[in-house]
Amino acid sequence: MKPHRDFLSIVDLSKAEAHEIFSKAHLYKISTPPASLAGKSVVLLFEKASTRTRISFEVGIARLGGHTIVLTPEGSQMARGEPLKDTARILSGYCDCIVMRTFGHDRITEMARFADIPVINALTDREHPCQVLADCFTLEEIFGPLNGRKVAWVGDGNNMANSWIDAASLLGFELSLACPEGYDPDPAVLDAARERGGAINLLRDPAEAVKGAIAVNTDVWASMGQEQEAKIRQKAFKDYYVTKELMEGADKDAVFMHCLPAHRGEEVSEEVLEGPQSVVWEQARNRLFIQEAIMDFLLQQKG
Ligand code: CP
Ligand code: NVA
Repeated sequence: MKPHRDFLSIVDLSKAEAHEIFSKAHLYKISTPPASLAGKSVVLLFEKASTRTRISFEVGIARLGGHTIVLTPEGSQMARGEPLKDTARILSGYCDCIVMRTFGHDRITEMARFADIPVINALTDREHPCQVLADCFTLEEIFGPLNGRKVAWVGDGNNMANSWIDAASLLGFELSLACPEGYDPDPAVLDAARERGGAINLLRDPAEAVKGAIAVNTDVWASMGQEQEAKIRQKAFKDYYVTKELMEGADKDAVFMHCLPAHRGEEVSEEVLEGPQSVVWEQARNRLFIQEAIMDFLLQQKG
């Protein structure tokens, strides 16, 4: 048994633990957080670009009294071929937590397998749990408990969609996804969520998916690492565009969500992104408080 917990997927938490993290995040949003990382060092290992995740982790670590080390592959021996499993053990000897953004999900599971300290998933090709946990917190701030509510996803069945599927099965809300054929979410994630009792509807029609939803979510058509597919994806996704008209088909109080960065005029119109239903800036701000709460939670569990 490892002496710590990792956070690689939303479903690494129980429902009660997710709510414990929401309560902490709320507290850290309205008051100064505790110095729970005093004397501790957190390494941020980013193999892909980031603005929000990287900065909100670094600010969060400072607010909790900890120390950040930013490690880029090109600035370390990783670029010269030092294996990830060796890097994991070296970092474990100096640091108290690893926050990692990478490509294949297998890279983060390997890091977690060989590290003796908590590993936090800051995005992989398969999942983006910190973002979606912050998004669920944002929705609960607005609407109260999500249990029994409906949330919509329009667009690519990507890492964000997979984490929304996990979240629906954990928190008990209905999730309707409209994805173009060939761009469905990971079938293993979907099957596991349904086995946990998740009410997940996989559809093709965005208008159908948003009916009665309190939140309409979307994301870029081509994620990091898919730049070569951008042209072909523009064709496949042309009807998966969140407009004012599409928003009118959702619940009358529905909000628009996007993890950002957004491509105005592709997956969402300028009018919706900047409009009164958009909560994207609060959603981004909440990343800070949720990640503080996640680090606090995981490091408290350390044996
Ligand atoms: N939403 C999100 O994770 O943004 P970054 O890529 O800027 O971290
Ligand atoms: N799906 C996007 C999310 C960016 C935060 C990507 O992986 O590039």
